[in-house]
Amino acid sequence: MSQSAQNKRKILVTSALPYANGPIHLGHLVEYIQTDIWTRFQKMRGHDCTYVCADDAHGTPIMLRAQAEGITPEELIAKSSQEHQADFAGFNVAFDHYHSTNSSENKELAEYIYTQLKDKGYISRKSVTQAYDPEKEMFLPDRFVKGTCPKCDAEDQYGDNCEVCGETYSPTDLINPKSAISGATPIEKDSDHLFFELGQFEEMLKDWTRAGHLQPEIANKLDEWLSTGLRGWDISRDAPYFGFEIPGEKDKFFYVWLDAPIGYMSSFKAYCDKHGINFDEYWQQDSEAELYHFIGKDIINFHALFWPAMLSGAGFRTPDAVYAHGFLTVDGQKMSKSRGTFIMAKTYLEHLNPEYLRYYFAAKLSSRIDDIDLNLEDFAQRVNSDLVGKVVNIASRCAGFVVKKFDGKLASELSDSAQALYDSFTHESEMIAELYEKREYGHAMREIMALADKANEYIAETAPWVLAKEEGKEAELHESVSVGINLFRVLMSYLAPVIPETADKAKSFLNLESWNWDDIQQPLLGHEINKFKALMTRLEMPAIEKMVEASAESLAKAGSTAPDGKKGDKKPVKKQLVAGELEPIAEQITIDDFAKIDLRIAKIINAEAVPEANKLLKLTLDIGLEQRQVFAGIKSAYEPEQLIGKQTVMVANLAPRKMRFGVSEGMVLAAGPGGEDLYILSPDQGAQPGMRVK
Ligand code: MSP
Ligand code: ZN
Repeated sequence: MSQSAQNKRKILVTSALPYANGPIHLGHLVEYIQTDIWTRFQKMRGHDCTYVCADDAHGTPIMLRAQAEGITPEELIAKSSQEHQADFAGFNVAFDHYHSTNSSENKELAEYIYTQLKDKGYISRKSVTQAYDPEKEMFLPDRFVKGTCPKCDAEDQYGDNCEVCGETYSPTDLINPKSAISGATPIEKDSDHLFFELGQFEEMLKDWTRAGHLQPEIANKLDEWLSTGLRGWDISRDAPYFGFEIPGEKDKFFYVWLDAPIGYMSSFKAYCDKHGINFDEYWQQDSEAELYHFIGKDIINFHALFWPAMLSGAGFRTPDAVYAHGFLTVDGQKMSKSRGTFIMAKTYLEHLNPEYLRYYFAAKLSSRIDDIDLNLEDFAQRVNSDLVGKVVNIASRCAGFVVKKFDGKLASELSDSAQALYDSFTHESEMIAELYEKREYGHAMREIMALADKANEYIAETAPWVLAKEEGKEAELHESVSVGINLFRVLMSYLAPVIPETADKAKSFLNLESWNWDDIQQPLLGHEINKFKALMTRLEMPAIEKMVEASAESLAKAGSTAPDGKKGDKKPVKKQLVAGELEPIAEQITIDDFAKIDLRIAKIINAEAVPEANKLLKLTLDIGLEQRQVFAGIKSAYEPEQLIGKQTVMVANLAPRKMRFGVSEGMVLAAGPGGEDLYILSPDQGAQPGMRVK
């Protein structure tokens, strides 16, 4: 355990609850990844940290969406919940519990809080005039009335503000208003609404917003609001509405934003019930547990004004902090459906490793609420140069020697200078922890990469590949690669909250039990490690381009009613060649097509026949970064022994293929029609395993 018992904190963390009527996209993920990194970090530190979330399942848009799909709202939210959880799991976002606001726990808590507020005199009633759809027989939220802007005459504007001139107004001010649901002209209708009297919390909120619970830029903004006085907040909606009925009222429902934040509590409640944890200990007024909400900047008022007021009015504790982040842009612009930059989580996962995005977001995130930009070229470059080039590379450069020359065992002691180098790495531990704690992830990533540079310098200076060739340098070689592996471990430990899946793989490779924050204080000495397996491959631009293409496509599909027809798979027909005949030149490709093929120099370190297959040899290839097993149809042309030690060229990014006798992790290049008449390609002298062929 990394912290002494009295330092062990009880921490409850939430991310905003995604709406159940839409899929998770990369914008959302800024938040869930930011929060997940923080909670993983707290857990590594040994704290008792719980991360909960839920789907936000109520409201008019969800009700209408279900109607449009011809299903019940319950069916819609069940489907969304599954999809959302699959997306989050795909990005390694590890909630301790994921719930729904349409749950018995939430109903109970919403009713309880409302009743408390009502009993204490914080709820009032007032008649409100609102747009009403006479055909659908329902009141229309502002966003569901469209018409001509009363100020600038722009057509087709929403009922709350004009996107052309920016004027704000109420739906009844629109010229020629229409219901976006039925097309009918809305009428004005009165109805009683219930209000939460925020004005009674003015003093409380003035104190709370200035007591260090908010980022300074937000506290300043709210100051302006608070100085102009707070009006009551309308918390009721008339039937038909998908939500909880308000106790003691007829056909009135809680507005979705009333029971949404209560969803934080109810998700945690469900978690407590399941694990026998004391809920009140976290939520009672004098609670010693810490409570943090991570949110986007668009929902600050709900979390920094309404929510603390509701909690304190109902007799609960208030949050220790609300941490807001900015919005995601892609290549400097708002995510766009037509440009293909409105990328769904699911689409991303079909093309790229989630850890890439987690690292990139981490590298860009700070404690401020600035928007963050996903620049696609920078994304590839950053991931490749930092994670693959600097970090993973250290392990792949050293592991082979440890395994081959020292039976997988690390040196059992370090020289003073090596120990000093190691200590200089662990010395940064508290500083990096502090940066995580303060959500200064970008800064933390820069510090970690500076250490990675230092580790690589050490390896370049000690040059294990040179030592390996010299006589009597075993001890030096052993120290060099053992230090390399140990520094790699420190870096991985620092990065574990950001790239947990990679860290997990590294854990098996390093033969470790856990990634506790303080484990690195002791270097691994005389410790046995396992064979190095690829931890992460390079991020290639073409994969990103494909993802963007697929995003543009999938939306085009979603927007039309055309059947979900797949384009016919065009497979070129292979023509049988007559002996001596040369194959015609293949269809022209672009340089970009070629760039998709990652060809590498490979050294054949082992070759053996596959008894069950009469054409195949099983090759073990060293491609510098890692080793690969490839099955090649060259048995008729070569004896296995002939090949061992030879260099050749392989396709390193070919999707692995599962064969009867094992997985083939690539392809070696050979020329000729086949059979005995087959020649593997070899590079010129000087080429080294792993060099890319371009
Ligand atoms: N349901 C509400 C939150 C209720 S919390 C009690 C909601 N849902 S949402 O699905 O629209 O957004 C969920 C979270 O994702 C919000 O914090 C929101 O700010 C964040 N983001 C949604 N789009 C985003 C970007 N494009 N960029 C960054 N964050 C984004 O709001
Ligand atoms: Zn206008």
